[in-house]
Amino acid sequence: MGDHTLGVTAEAVKFCLRHNMTDEDVLRNVVTSSLCHDISLIGREDKYSSNLETLRKHPRHSVEIYKDLTGESDKKVINAIRSHMFPLTPKLPKHREGWILTLADKISASTDLFNVPPVTPEERDELLEQASQTM
Ligand SMILES: [Fe+2]
Repeated sequence: MGDHTLGVTAEAVKFCLRHNMTDEDVLRNVVTSSLCHDISLIGREDKYSSNLETLRKHPRHSVEIYKDLTGESDKKVINAIRSHMFPLTPKLPKHREGWILTLADKISASTDLFNVPPVTPEERDELLEQASQTM
């Protein structure tokens, strides 16, 4: 799961940089929501009884963990995490952060499936360095 999370974060940051969305607020929201979107999957075997239950409930539970972990309650981050499984779940992203996370999650999940990393480790480090310089 850690590789997936970092892959989603790198993919989302890459999208932002490619499209000149380098606003500190946007990048921070994109990185935070990417890092937290699947955090409730830690220990999933003890929380959920099926893949369907996992699919339906983990976004909401990840929001609760995001709030507890960061002490924050940013509405754009909450909506991005809550809607990241769209269209598999009917919760529609309301902000660009949510659409970026949803897209990055699908790209990363696909490349995980094909066993091809979305970016090389070197590209990931470079992207995260570029993003940190804009913040
Ligand atoms: Fe997820």
